[in-house]
Amino acid sequence: MANVVVVGAQWGDEGKGKIVDWLSERADVVVRYQGGHNAGHTLVIDGTSYKLSLFPSGVVRGKLSIIGNGVVVDPHHFVEELKKLRDQGIKITPDNLRIAENAPLILSLHRDLDAAREDATSSLKIGTTKRGIGPAYEDKVGRRSIRVMDLAEPDTLMAKIERLLAHHNPLRRGMGKPEIDPKTLYDELMEVAADILPFMDRTWKLLDEQRRAGSRILFEGAQGALLDNDFGTYPYVTSSNTIAGQAATGSGMGPGAINYVLGIAKAYTTRVGEGPFPTEQKNEAGEYLGTHGHEYGVVTGRKRRCGWFDAVLLRQMIAVCGINGIALTKLDVLDGLDEIKLCVGYELDGKKIDYMPSSMGAQTRLKPIYETMEGWKETTAGARSWAELPAKAVKYVRHIEELIGAPVALLSTSPERLDTILVTDPFEDR
Ligand code: IMP
Repeated sequence: MANVVVVGAQWGDEGKGKIVDWLSERADVVVRYQGGHNAGHTLVIDGTSYKLSLFPSGVVRGKLSIIGNGVVVDPHHFVEELKKLRDQGIKITPDNLRIAENAPLILSLHRDLDAAREDATSSLKIGTTKRGIGPAYEDKVGRRSIRVMDLAEPDTLMAKIERLLAHHNPLRRGMGKPEIDPKTLYDELMEVAADILPFMDRTWKLLDEQRRAGSRILFEGAQGALLDNDFGTYPYVTSSNTIAGQAATGSGMGPGAINYVLGIAKAYTTRVGEGPFPTEQKNEAGEYLGTHGHEYGVVTGRKRRCGWFDAVLLRQMIAVCGINGIALTKLDVLDGLDEIKLCVGYELDGKKIDYMPSSMGAQTRLKPIYETMEGWKETTAGARSWAELPAKAVKYVRHIEELIGAPVALLSTSPERLDTILVTDPFEDR
């Protein structure tokens, strides 16, 4: 038995799509366990690009793909993504896609609320994707969510809608928005029920059966560990737990089901949205990384903030996720730079520290301590073995391993699947 969790080790957009796709060929089952359609995973297969937001990457390869209970599901988006992928020739049926019966739904009122909060002039703008993720999770914890299974019980759905609106309508009144009529919401849900219900399943049971049968399960994380609701740069985080432990809770498997945690990290750092980012470069270096790395969001098209590799943050996320090995991506973006900086510690109020404090105030006062390494002029793009890499690039990767205290298991040198240097196969590592 070998089950692998793939988790973003920075602020998301680390290039998980390609790595998950690469691993999903070796897996039998692929599971999403948190987040929703705020994620944006791009897979390039034989020159065709597939953009996934909600569906596990395994669907593109025909693997059994599961949207777990920890995910928040926008039923309208579900229908849209299904259509788009089918139009691209991907076969998706209940034979290869299942959705947890106990996954909460994202409704139009959640999207409205997310956008209204973000658009209001407030000092606490998070820079969300405005997909309704936060408000949907609030309702889950508040015990008033409409869940997938509720669509199968129209007789009791109205009572659940009224309970939900007893919370939302007063909020909407306060924001000067029109109240929602329960019947309108009921009709909206009934309209999508027939599309979504054929995929509904008791997915914890299906996963248990798969595990007992010896299937290889790949848990596909979305966003990144630094956006975790507990361990990220709160409040500038997403509303789910993005760290590896959530793979168990968000799918209904015990922690013992996880054998290997693969953290994905870029050879530099990016962030979308607001919040602290100690190594951010609002200068030529940042522009270089953004331009060469095509750093624009898949979901929102926003320009990503760019900066140097931060070994302190990575070390911290390795600890909280229990990361066994790193997949280092986008090394080729650094090709051509005269020098490359790495953050190896912080100075906070005159003292040296080796961790990211959890107070927002302290996070914004951090001054990175850098080491500078010589860059390389040759290209690393498309390298498939260490021998093809310039010596200075190898030195950079080896130094990262030393600084973070974890091995590089995979090195990705272009968006193409095969442009990958494999050091350790996470499914085979014991
Ligand atoms: P939300 O998840 O839409 O609530 O957004 C909360 C924060 O997470 C914002 O800073 C977003 O930019 C960020 N975020 C959400 N999803 C992603 C992602 O897939 N990649 C990178 N950042 C994300």
